[in-house]
Amino acid sequence: MKHIDIKEIISSDKFIGQSVTVCGWVRTSRNSKSVAFIELNDGTSLKNIQIVVEKGDGEYKEPRVGMSLKVTGKIVEGRNNTKEINAVPSDITVLGDCPTDYPLQKKGHTLEFMRSMPHLRSRSNTFNAVWRVRSVLAAALHEYFQKNNYVYVNTPLITGSDCEGAGEMFQVTTIGYNTEYKSEDEYYENDFFGRKAGLSVSGQLEGEMAATAMGKIYTFGPSFRAENSNTPKHLAEFWHIEPEVAFAELDDVIEIAEDMLKYVIRKLLDTCPDEINFFDAHFEKGLKARLEELISHEFGRVTYTEAIKLLQESGENFVYPVEWGCDLQTEHERYISEKVFKKAVFVTDYPKEIKSFYMKQNPDGKTVAAVDLLVPGVGEIIGGSEREADYDKLIAAMNERNMNLELYSDYLDLRKYGSVPHGGFGLGFERLIMYTTGMANIRDVILFPRTVGSIR
Ligand code: 4AD
Repeated sequence: MKHIDIKEIISSDKFIGQSVTVCGWVRTSRNSKSVAFIELNDGTSLKNIQIVVEKGDGEYKEPRVGMSLKVTGKIVEGRNNTKEINAVPSDITVLGDCPTDYPLQKKGHTLEFMRSMPHLRSRSNTFNAVWRVRSVLAAALHEYFQKNNYVYVNTPLITGSDCEGAGEMFQVTTIGYNTEYKSEDEYYENDFFGRKAGLSVSGQLEGEMAATAMGKIYTFGPSFRAENSNTPKHLAEFWHIEPEVAFAELDDVIEIAEDMLKYVIRKLLDTCPDEINFFDAHFEKGLKARLEELISHEFGRVTYTEAIKLLQESGENFVYPVEWGCDLQTEHERYISEKVFKKAVFVTDYPKEIKSFYMKQNPDGKTVAAVDLLVPGVGEIIGGSEREADYDKLIAAMNERNMNLELYSDYLDLRKYGSVPHGGFGLGFERLIMYTTGMANIRDVILFPRTVGSIR
């Protein structure tokens, strides 16, 4: 490329004295009699580069905020070890004009306002920083698994079975509204796949099939949930990291989850100091210290039954009543992690009725070897379990839930042919980003959020 990334220029001394070309969008512009200043940002860094324009006799037309420019000039050292570009008016080419109705003309817009323009909000510091954190965390997750002998597998997005069994799938069909068919069966027989299909809520079931051959696998892709949850932490389309490990029991699953999180957060702190300082200054005071603290201590651990007791004895006035057997709501999860443990905490051994059919049944007959990881500020970011490896017990659990066993015959085969103890978990990628940036709404950590009633 003929132009150089602004990040390269500001992070090294090697360009000083050289003539270089940069491209970017105007963040601010100041003009005085003989000299003008332009702050240019090309997205490669949170930091802008300052162009100092010696106007001389040349004709100088002050650029507007939002315009895109190409500038060629000499790199010089500015104040406080910064780099600047010295240029004259003829060194500046306008690539794209930007009229005065550009919505990001001024700074300080609310996140809600920014959400109304997902196509432009990335040009702000906040979203520049979020997307970089997202990218660095994604690379760190791959790095963690690759270093530890996991195989990256891609599980299907269109599926004929509902992994979580909770009936919250988007349907995939090529037949629109139609009254021609006499029954549901007839309708689906005529549909694209010859049976009912949907967008996968999780790659776990196929992940288990790969793990019981490759030993350790992980997926990293989108999952879809048609839940009617209009909350700050639910998306209809979210990115899901799902490791699955053969010969692993619940304690191993917990150990992997903690090790993985500590690894990727350490990597983030080392790779993105500017972004973390930015979020610390503007979104969550103390964020950096909180993340440092998280990775230097062991996570907490409590059983569901103990957690219920803690909640009942808390004296708090929860909106959702607490009794053994209830699903933990965000308010309960946050109380446990923020007030009781004041750190990340694994909650284990949930009642079997509120968890999925595939979870290993505990000897008490009431609970399953499930685990959720709760973190302060967000609540649940990981959900996982040891899987039921016993063929008969799995069939019994599926029958209790009136599931159609035919749809799961491949999955059941795993328990017939060389079954092994195994387990895994799902990490919601956007929830991890919320936790590591202090962003309070999941809509602000994904490029184009899809939520109930909203798509663009
Ligand atoms: O707890 P969940 O539903 O677990 C599963 O899907 C398992 N099959 C995972 C496994 O064991 N392989 O989802 C896992 C995580 C949650 O902890 C949460 O972080 C995220 O996925 N998640 C969502 N994130 C954003 N929007 C939603 N609607 C989400 N639903 C789940």
